[in-house]
Amino acid sequence: MAPLTRCRAPGAVPTPMMAEYYKQRATPGGLIISEATVVSPTGFGYPNTPGIFEPAHVDGWRQVTEAVHSQGGIMFSQLWHVGRVSHPHFQPGEALPISSSAVPISFDGQPGKVFSPKTMQMEDYPTPRALGKEEIPGIIADFRKAARNAKAAGFDGVEVHGANGYLIDQFLKDGINQRTDEYGGSIENRARLCLQIVEAVCEELGAEKVGLRLSPFGTAIHAAEDSHPYALNVYLAEELNKFGLAYLHLIEPRQVIDPVTKEYSVADTPLTLRPFREVFNGAVISAGGFTTETAAAAVGSGACDAVAFGRSFISTPDLVQRLRIGAAWNKWDRNTFYSPGPEGYLDYPTLEETEEGRALLAAAAGAAA
Ligand SMILES: Cc1cc2nc3c(=O)[nH]c(=O)nc-3n(C[C@H](O)[C@H](O)[C@H](O)COP(=O)(O)O)c2cc1C
Repeated sequence: MAPLTRCRAPGAVPTPMMAEYYKQRATPGGLIISEATVVSPTGFGYPNTPGIFEPAHVDGWRQVTEAVHSQGGIMFSQLWHVGRVSHPHFQPGEALPISSSAVPISFDGQPGKVFSPKTMQMEDYPTPRALGKEEIPGIIADFRKAARNAKAAGFDGVEVHGANGYLIDQFLKDGINQRTDEYGGSIENRARLCLQIVEAVCEELGAEKVGLRLSPFGTAIHAAEDSHPYALNVYLAEELNKFGLAYLHLIEPRQVIDPVTKEYSVADTPLTLRPFREVFNGAVISAGGFTTETAAAAVGSGACDAVAFGRSFISTPDLVQRLRIGAAWNKWDRNTFYSPGPEGYLDYPTLEETEEGRALLAAAAGAAA
């Protein structure tokens, strides 16, 4: 299960409803990656997203990991700092959000928009504050502490969120990072924060319990583009080989987001994750726009070792069973992706719960017998 922000943790504390949601989706041996989970008070940029830096967060997550483990599932915590994808209304003391450089999110010269929990409307993303070099060890320490907390909360490991234009990606990509110190400029310098965070987290947990998510190619998400994505990400993959990570989780280049509907779709593109797959010597998870058939083909051809499913797992709690028997998924409702209650969260039906589904299951059992 791919990491999926659902905005249902008031006060950043995971709830019993969240435990139930993840439990519905847990299967023996199946890896669930948690929704992105904030590592420090400056890391928020969306309403009601969970944290992992206070004791109450750890206690809240413990009920979730226990629920997943009760089904034999495996759960990693996705560790997150949004960086500039935020607004003073999310920040302690209404300070400016932080980033690699004082470069705001804009699209074709127009400012990007962020929902403010204070005005309850869309506001322009502000120009963030560039982190001082002396502040960077504190950011690494926040990820380290979050990893320690994740272990205390019962997670089986963590995934460092280096994708989708958030803080780590704001250092990686030269479309954003304009620093002139050893955290900017060359590929080695821009990769430094990412690698130092991975190193710190590996020291805490052991590399075999650590994954990293990257989106090598720019998508419509948060205006995070790099001029040389192959060179940057091949370098990262080579450096990551030194750790022996649990996995590298890569977002497909062919996955694009419609700026109007916000829906992801699969585009034809000559871009490919192959070069990173060839260089990285550990397991690769691929995500973005997969169907039952294309996922089987991707794993079968060796393009990746596993596929993570996102929206299909939102709509289909018994997705794993349906992948096994080739059954269709429920349709997802984008309107309830980030709404507060159980609707569109706990109430998607399993095959067992509908007459048509039970008939399908019976037919599949008959075919197997
Ligand atoms: C509602 C929603 C929330 C998401 N939240 C996260 C997140 O917290 N962390 C992350 O790395 N990706 C997040 N993503 C991206 C998904 O993990 C995944 O890469 C994307 O949905 C494409 O996969 P799919 O086509 O199987 O849905 C989110 C996507 C959706 C639709």
